[in-house]
Amino acid sequence: MKIKSLTLRIFINTMLVGVAVYFVCAVIFTDSFYKYFENRIFSELENECDYLSLLPNFTDVKTENRITVIDFQGKVIFDNKANPAEMESHALRAEFLEAMEKGSSKVSRYSSTMLQKNLYFARRLENGTVLRVSCQQYTVGVLMFGLSQELLCLLVIALIISGLVASGLSKKITSSIEKIDFENPETNETFSEFKPFIKRISDENFEKKQREEIRRQFSANVSHELKTPLTSISGFAEIMKSGSADKKTMLSFSEDIYNEAQRMILLVNDILKLSKLDEESITMEKEEICIEEICIETIKSLESYAKKKNVSVELENKTKEPAYIHGVPTVVKEMIFNLIENAIKYNKESGSVIVKIEKISLEKNYLRLCVKDTGIGIAENQQERIFERFYRIDKSRSKDFQNNRTTGTGLGLSIVKHGAKYHNAKISIKSNVGEGSEFCLMFPIM
Ligand SMILES: Nc1ncnc2c1ncn2[C@@H]1O[C@H](COP(=O)(O)OP(=O)(O)O)[C@@H](O)[C@H]1O
Ligand SMILES: [Mg+2]
Repeated sequence: MKIKSLTLRIFINTMLVGVAVYFVCAVIFTDSFYKYFENRIFSELENECDYLSLLPNFTDVKTENRITVIDFQGKVIFDNKANPAEMESHALRAEFLEAMEKGSSKVSRYSSTMLQKNLYFARRLENGTVLRVSCQQYTVGVLMFGLSQELLCLLVIALIISGLVASGLSKKITSSIEKIDFENPETNETFSEFKPFIKRISDENFEKKQREEIRRQFSANVSHELKTPLTSISGFAEIMKSGSADKKTMLSFSEDIYNEAQRMILLVNDILKLSKLDEESITMEKEEICIEEICIETIKSLESYAKKKNVSVELENKTKEPAYIHGVPTVVKEMIFNLIENAIKYNKESGSVIVKIEKISLEKNYLRLCVKDTGIGIAENQQERIFERFYRIDKSRSKDFQNNRTTGTGLGLSIVKHGAKYHNAKISIKSNVGEGSEFCLMFPIM
């Protein structure tokens, strides 16, 4: 059973500790008191024995204690509480043997019922007999049983104290949690045990702020990116509306408007894809997908574009059997499309693109997809930045409207990055300016 209440848990723990301490103390104290009293009784018995040894006979002695006289053979010759004739020989009794040997002895023995204990003091007298004085004492168990009411009382007090301590302690703990300022966790003075917890909250706060900042920047960028083509469209349309443009200019303007509108469509599509990947709450259906099939399809769809750019695209499949990964088809297609499209777009005249698929076994099995081009390359200090939203290395170069694609949105690699994160895939990049680039994706395979 799991205990949910903090108060109850502290209560049970303090109580258990209290009860344990209580029992240990009770045992130690009872034991030492018991031993102390036993010693006192023995010395009283000894005193009585010494006093008796001075008397001529014991018949008239008034005492609670039992007096026995044993002759040197162990035969009882006097007993104030029983008839000596009916008593068995005491020759083998420990107190007798020891007194005969050493002159005196102290011995304690339990009665047959174990409820009582007999204490004996014996001394060898000058006439050769042994004088034994004995009394009865309760055993520890009986003593404790006799004290059970008091012990119970103490137990109840212990329970009440544990209850009070527990509720006080849990109140203190909960109130110190309540006092934590979760917005500024670092400023809190609290128990040192809470420090890791507070550190985590402040880390999470930091990440949250960062995410908010990225989102805020993204919205600002989106507005800016959408405003630029809209301003051009509006400008062209205004001139056309005034009727001052000749037919040739009109034709060129309408083409510009068309291109700007196309660009906006591309942009809005990419933004929608990104925000879908960004919504962590949305779970997209994952299924088994064949990477090779997607590559073949993508290369086919980019065939005419590659021809126009005079770039050759080749697929190299190094896996023996078809390689499947578990993923969202539309997202994976989008990622592969972006990489191959970039490899063609940022290539040189009569350059080439090689798309390679292979299986890799590290601690886990991976499917690695690499897109290698012979293009313009990416400088080392840009290699991280190109994955940022709207980031393009050379914006001026993308002012070529011949193909819609040449005007990139700067969102392609962001989509690749988010898609990779969604699939637990790793991205790596190798590139030298002027020599070409290679983008690799490592998808884990189950
Ligand atoms: N294969 C590549 N070779 C050279 N530069 C590249 C390559 N891929 C991407 N880049 C650079 O990274 C930038 C961002 O790429 P991306 O996010 O796909 O945006 P877009 O292609 O829409 O411009 C590109 O503008 C380009 O400058
Ligand atoms: Mg791109």
